[in-house]
Amino acid sequence: MIQDQIAEMERRALAELQATSDLVALDEWRIKYLGKKGELTGFLRGMGGLSPVERPLVGQAVNTAKNILETAVAERTERLKSAALEVTLTRDKVDVTLPGRPVQVGHVHVITKVFREIIEAFTAMGFQVAEGPEVELDYYNFQQLNIPPGHPARSMHDTFYFSESVLLRTHTSPNQIRVMEKQKPPVRIIVPGKCYRSEATDATHEFMFMQFEGLAVDRDITLADLRGTLAAFARRMFGEERKVRFRCDYFPYVEPGVDLSIDCLICQGVGCRACKYSGWLEILGAGMVHPQVLRNVDIDPQKYSGFAFGMGPERIAMLKYSIDDIRQFYRNDLRFLRQFA
Ligand code: DAH
Repeated sequence: MIQDQIAEMERRALAELQATSDLVALDEWRIKYLGKKGELTGFLRGMGGLSPVERPLVGQAVNTAKNILETAVAERTERLKSAALEVTLTRDKVDVTLPGRPVQVGHVHVITKVFREIIEAFTAMGFQVAEGPEVELDYYNFQQLNIPPGHPARSMHDTFYFSESVLLRTHTSPNQIRVMEKQKPPVRIIVPGKCYRSEATDATHEFMFMQFEGLAVDRDITLADLRGTLAAFARRMFGEERKVRFRCDYFPYVEPGVDLSIDCLICQGVGCRACKYSGWLEILGAGMVHPQVLRNVDIDPQKYSGFAFGMGPERIAMLKYSIDDIRQFYRNDLRFLRQFA
């Protein structure tokens, strides 16, 4: 009887189904039994030769078998799928309680940090940032600043020359001239940048270092403006309680010239090794712009006056963080640099 054959096929199919171990095998099984050319359809195809009495009975048997096999294959599919998922989950298990790997985050260089603080201090007071070339003309670096050839002040600047007239700037002061050539008063600028001097390096000297030049030119600018501006800067940078001291100094491009000191951060003015037992730390040079410098850029010193200053951010950083060797800044020793994260 055909019904017996169907029942036999069903048993065989179910046994094979239980033996499938993955989804690929399942697919093959499905094609073999339930596919368009599968065994089950094979029975339907043979129905043409059956008697009208047999036909519905066989049809029913095929349908019942089909339902049973479909239900069975659906269940088996579910089972294999969840088994596969189980395997993936166990294999790819992530222990979320493990500590993460630390990410190394960089930070700005300590000089950049001080640089930004200085810029902020002056821009807050209305100064604008200007920049100029590191390869400079003797004309700007010296001559226009009242330092003609042969002037004794040149000996303080051990200069890298490219030629008689072209050099690496030894300070940022030439930008006073460059700016005033183009911009008439009022002028309020600070010029940050690298400077170079042909020096033997030691704890306080580098052949490359940074400077900040400051310049304010307007009507009625006096030494009191210079004093107030720089005292405000020093206190912002080193603490409101700082005492400041101005003394006479000489720079060819200012008259009078001064230097600014703060009371020693380490001994509070009592006297220690850091301040060479003077109680004071010098932080910058400054002065009232020399009338000749103004005349050099066609600004009438009868109408206008100004003050200028120059400072080294390395020195500011050394004082602020008690660093005793300027060479540390440019050695790229991460153990040193990471302290300023
Ligand atoms: N150019 C000086 C230097 O390199 C610093 C300086 C002193 C700049 C006095 C100035 C100033 O503008 O008025 O040591």
